[in-house]
Amino acid sequence: MQYSVHRFESVTSTNDLAARMAEEGAPEGTVVIADEQVHGRGRRGRQWVSPPGSGLYVSVVLRPHTPSSKFWQLAFVASLAVEEAIRRSARLNPMIKWPNDILVNGHKVSGILVEARKPRISFEPVAVIGIGINVNTPEFPPELAETATSMAIETGRPVSVHTVERELLNALHTRYEQYQKEGFRSILDAWRARDCTVGRDVVVQTPEGTVVGTAVEVNTYGDLVVRVRGGELKEITAGEVLLAD
Ligand code: BTN
Repeated sequence: MQYSVHRFESVTSTNDLAARMAEEGAPEGTVVIADEQVHGRGRRGRQWVSPPGSGLYVSVVLRPHTPSSKFWQLAFVASLAVEEAIRRSARLNPMIKWPNDILVNGHKVSGILVEARKPRISFEPVAVIGIGINVNTPEFPPELAETATSMAIETGRPVSVHTVERELLNALHTRYEQYQKEGFRSILDAWRARDCTVGRDVVVQTPEGTVVGTAVEVNTYGDLVVRVRGGELKEITAGEVLLAD
């Protein structure tokens, strides 16, 4: 994969722009980076607060030779790359919370949004990997203050957005190549080594309701397996995890 980077001062959402470019035939490796997003989007329809000068807002177009039903695997590829980029560009020890939140000292520093699009002139679906990293955000609005953090808050000094960007694109390149050559299993093994969910007591908000129990595994389908009271195992495909202990 060869990157072709497109930079913007201000966009609605880098994912929207990258998706439009992908629909019109932009090749794999097309990267959209913006200083600011006025409608940054998070998972589950949430907003991703994206003021200028404080974060890295990136979207990458990928065209893996897998059906879109497997695009969730790319979130594991990307979360590994983000974890590595943060670790290499600051003295921090990030961990991954299932499925793809990056935490530093238990607070969320980065989120990933993978979307599938159907190009106009091809039958092959295309994936847009959106990554937001709170690099120099000095503080967060009250509703996020308890759960969110930035690299600068955690290190106590400003961090170079440029360095984080370079490390991120390098790590994503390497991990995506590994995914293509060795398959998802090899990504999952590396992902499990950086996961902080398994072994913890969790409360998981799923589209079907709340699941409370102990996380025992992330299986090869990417599901979080939770042992609930009474011993029953529940496999969760999508949800928001709160680490309870
Ligand atoms: C999450 O909810 O945790 C995912 C957040 C993803 C945010 C990034 S910022 C770059 C890209 N553009 C968007 O609008 N969203 C993603």
